Amino acid sequence: MLEIKKEIAQNIAEIIKNINAQAELGEQDILDMLEYPPDEKMGDLALPCFKLSRTLRMAPPKIAEAIAESFSACSVKRAEAVNGYFNIYFDGEYLAKKVVAKVREKGDKYGAPDIGEGKTVVLDYSSPNVAKPFHIGHLGTTVIGHSLKKLHEFAGYKCVGINYLGDWGTQFGKLIVAYKKWGNREEIENGGVDALVALYVKINNAISGNEELGIPADPTLADESRAEFRKLEEGDEQNISLWRWFVDISLAEYQKTYKQLGIEFDSYKGESFYTDKMPAQVQKLRDMGLLKIDDGASIVDLEAYGMTPCLILKRDGSTLYPTRDIAAAVYRKQEYDFDKMIYVTSAGQSLHFAQWFKVVELMGYDWYDKLVHVPYGTVSINGAKLATRTGNVILLRDLFAESISKVESIMKEKNPDIENGDKIAEAVGVGAIVFYYLSNNRIRDINFMMEDALSFEGNTGPYVQYTYARTCSVLAKSPEYKGAETLVVTADEETSLLKALSRFEEVVREAIAVYEPSVITRYILDVAGAYNRFYHNCSILGADNEDVKNTRLALTEATKTVLGNAFGLICLAKTEKI
Ligand code: ARG
Repeated sequence: MLEIKKEIAQNIAEIIKNINAQAELGEQDILDMLEYPPDEKMGDLALPCFKLSRTLRMAPPKIAEAIAESFSACSVKRAEAVNGYFNIYFDGEYLAKKVVAKVREKGDKYGAPDIGEGKTVVLDYSSPNVAKPFHIGHLGTTVIGHSLKKLHEFAGYKCVGINYLGDWGTQFGKLIVAYKKWGNREEIENGGVDALVALYVKINNAISGNEELGIPADPTLADESRAEFRKLEEGDEQNISLWRWFVDISLAEYQKTYKQLGIEFDSYKGESFYTDKMPAQVQKLRDMGLLKIDDGASIVDLEAYGMTPCLILKRDGSTLYPTRDIAAAVYRKQEYDFDKMIYVTSAGQSLHFAQWFKVVELMGYDWYDKLVHVPYGTVSINGAKLATRTGNVILLRDLFAESISKVESIMKEKNPDIENGDKIAEAVGVGAIVFYYLSNNRIRDINFMMEDALSFEGNTGPYVQYTYARTCSVLAKSPEYKGAETLVVTADEETSLLKALSRFEEVVREAIAVYEPSVITRYILDVAGAYNRFYHNCSILGADNEDVKNTRLALTEATKTVLGNAFGLICLAKTEKI
């Protein structure tokens, strides 16, 4: 717990001042040096004294011994100098008193760092391209983005979640041609986004030809598509209403997936919203002399920064992806006055973001350093790479459906009479995928193994959700429990669990600092592991006396709160029963 750590750091800082009054080391410096040892045998907290030896001009073992000689803190049971380390062991009962009281007091705010007060964070995530399939490649941006939003909200930031829909571009010209040629309203109303995708595939095949299907290429359709898109840009009523309809149909489909994940956005202003906001930025670039004409196109040369040019206008004067991002960022700065704006996309877009962030800087916008790109690696499923072109796309919707149905069949076997079975199967099925995905460092490429994700054993979503349900059922069996007055810690498993629970706030701080939800998933596994070891080795309801029993119930209650709070940070549903 940060409070306890701070007290220890202050204590050590005092001692160091006594050793050497000139050493300018404060509580914060020591706090930054304290480490959690990898093995409990090496203490619960340790100060590697080699970090002090230069400042103090003393050998690390001597420093450790000097500290050990004068150190005392009520949170510490034992402290010793070992090989240049100052190792600290917490007092279980002290920890219990502090942690249990704090979790009770803070409840669903336990673990929340107060770092965001008065600050605004804008998060741009999910952002699928309309009329294209919402596939497993979008899982990353959707769940990492939402998790980062939850983490920032938890820390007190005001957050604005934006779904920057890919709702503009030449593909709409193609869709309009295809719809006018082959589509009918009823088919699309019924078929939804799938029917739109089918039309899109059909027109692409028709334009470029497809030998396998025996379709000859018809380039005139490309001209027609361009013409329809131009009409759309010029505000043609019929095209505008078709376009709006395509967007609405797609959005309705995405909403189903968002609902399963418990995700809501604050804004759906997509790319189309920025069409009339780009000219001003292009003009500014021109006025500042930043635009260069290259083979007819307008670019910003970034050679001096080791990057290829940022494309602003095509030869025909039409705008591009970076142009829109620049206009959108300027608009959002005015609209939300953010302290930070986070973009979550695949690592494949890293250059794009680096380029236009640089352009924003060159344009003299002083908030350029508040823009953050959070990239993530690619996903393959059961070993197979995903490729939109060869049709190897797995829709998120189908992945969730498969996972839910597998969970249903497991539940039928294990717990057939459970109430609200389908709701629980959905929570566990979706949770399994989310947890599995977020268990990895986001930047790593991952190979999704369905079997592994769904296992009720091992480091999975179902396992941690099951642990949460276990805490609920222990508490449900003790309705007379109203809190523990005297806390007595009698087993090592209890102290270990307390230590895990006490670290929550620091973990949340780290996850925010490195934009990494996997820090939370790993922590959830630590807490679940510690709870289950405690549960198996310490009898709760059959404990020797009332104080021991109440202490164990208090630990169970605290675990329930901590797991519940942590689940909330990674889009994992709290399951009272499984
Ligand atoms: N629609 C884009 C895609 O699917 C992602 C948009 C990311 N956000 C942004 N502001 N560029 O690739």
